[in-house]
Amino acid sequence: MPSYISGTFRGYPSTGRTQVLPELLDRSLVVDQVGNIAHFEPSNSPASVSLIALASQTREPVSQIPEGSFLLPTFCDLHLHAPQFLYQGNGLDLPLLEWLDKYTYKAEERLDSDPVLAKRVYDRLARRLLENGTGAVSFFGTIKAQTNEILAQSMLDAGIRARVGKLSMDISSRPTYVEASAEASLEAARVFALDTCALLAQQTGKSLIEPVLTPRFVPTCSDELLSGLADMSSKHSLHVQSHLAEAYDQVKWVEDTRGKDDIDVFDQARLLNPRTLQAHCTYLTPPDLQRIVDSGTSIAHCPLSNIYFSSEPFPLREALKMGVKIGLGTDVAGGYSLDMMSAMRNAVAVSRMRENRRLTEVRASSSSSTNEVVDEQASLAITWTESLYLATRGGVIALGGSWKDLGHFKVGAPFDAQQIKLVGEDREGVGALDFFDLASDISPAGLSLEMVEKWWCIGDNRNRMKVWIQGVQCFGV
Ligand code: GUN
Ligand code: FE
Repeated sequence: MPSYISGTFRGYPSTGRTQVLPELLDRSLVVDQVGNIAHFEPSNSPASVSLIALASQTREPVSQIPEGSFLLPTFCDLHLHAPQFLYQGNGLDLPLLEWLDKYTYKAEERLDSDPVLAKRVYDRLARRLLENGTGAVSFFGTIKAQTNEILAQSMLDAGIRARVGKLSMDISSRPTYVEASAEASLEAARVFALDTCALLAQQTGKSLIEPVLTPRFVPTCSDELLSGLADMSSKHSLHVQSHLAEAYDQVKWVEDTRGKDDIDVFDQARLLNPRTLQAHCTYLTPPDLQRIVDSGTSIAHCPLSNIYFSSEPFPLREALKMGVKIGLGTDVAGGYSLDMMSAMRNAVAVSRMRENRRLTEVRASSSSSTNEVVDEQASLAITWTESLYLATRGGVIALGGSWKDLGHFKVGAPFDAQQIKLVGEDREGVGALDFFDLASDISPAGLSLEMVEKWWCIGDNRNRMKVWIQGVQCFGV
C-alpha cells in the first residue's frame, strides 16, 4: 500500500553544489510499495490535491507532518568503526599508533572471540544510530568474517543501510590480531564480500547491506595485499575504504618503512579510483588533493577524530572548491560521538578556526589593518547549511554505488527520512530549543530558517521523532 505524507520538507537542489540554498518547502509526498518516492510536489499542486483526495476516498491514512516539524534526509556516516563502539568515550589519551596498540586492536580482538558480546554491542549500536538519525553507514568491522556477519545482521534487523567492511590486515603490532598472509587475507575478503554479503541480500530480498573491501591502512597492509584488493575491486566492482594521511606518527611510519608517502602506496596499488573512499587526508598537499580529484577518489572528513590525532586541520573549503567528493564521518571511537550533528558542528568549528587564522594573516600583511571587507570568495569557513549537505547528500555522492539517489527528496529515490520537531503543540520550543519571537519568526510553512539553524546548533535527540529507511519506519512512534 502506498503511504501519503504531507508537510514541510527541507530540500536540496540535486546538482551536488556545495553552496546550497536551504529550502523549507510545503510538499506532499507519496511512498510506493517498495519504499521509493512516487510523488513529491507542492501540497497545493493539482496532482497533490487529487492524490490526497483519492487517499481519503480509499481511506488510506495521510500522515500530516505537524506545524513546527519538518522532514530531512537521514544522515550518512561515511566512517565508523563498529567494534570500537565497545569503548566509545574512553581511552583517547594517546597518539594514533599507540592508541591502536593499547586499546583498539585489543577491543576488536575481544569481539572476534566473543560473538555474544559482539551481538550486544552491534544491536545497541544500531539502536543508537537510529536515535541519532543515521540511516546509512560505511562500517569498518573486525578481521573475523563471522563477527562482520553479526554486524550485518544487527543492521539488517534494525533496517539500517550498511556497507560492511571486513578488515584486511596482514601486518600488525599485535601478533594475535592479524591475518596469516596476504593470500589468506585476500581469500577471506573475497569470501566475505562475494559470498556472505550476497547470501544476506538474497535471504532478505533487500539491498540494505553491501560489502566494502577494507584494507585498514598502509601500516597494516603489504603491497601484495593492497594490489590484490585493487584487482578484486575492479574485477567485481567492489567498493574500497581505508585511512589516508591521517596522523603524523602514521605518515612518518609509512615514510620510514616504505620509503614513500601513503598516497603513493595507494596509487601504486591502484587504490585511488572512483570506488575508493579514504578517511581523513589531513596531511595531503594541494597537488595530492588534485590527484584525489583526478582519480575520482572520495574523502570521509572526520573532524572530531582529526582534532585528537592530527596536527593539521583538513582543508575542507579548498577540497570542496577543487571538486573532491566529500562527506562526513564520526570515526567512532577515535571520535567519541556517533552523532552526525557533532560531526557537522566540528566540521564548521574547525573551518571557522582556519578562516580566523587566514584573516589574521591577511590583516598582519595588509596596511588597512582592521576594517577591510571580508572576502567571501576567499573564506575557508563553511556554513551550517553546507555541513548539513555534507552530512546527507554529500555523503551519499561520496559513497557512490547503488545508494546514489539517497540524501534528497525526489521521485524515484528511496524514502529515507528523519522527522525533526522544533515547536510543540504548546507553541514552545522542543528539548533544548527556546524561541522568543515565534509569532514574527514563523513562515507560512510554520518554520523559519533561523529556527532550523538553532536546532543545528543546540538541538538533540529530543527533537527527532521518527526515522524511515526505504519507506519503513525504523524509529519513533
Ligand atoms: N587508522 C588505522 N586504524 C584506525 C582506526 O581504527 N581508527 C582511526 N581513527 N584511524 C585508524
Ligand atoms: Fe577510522
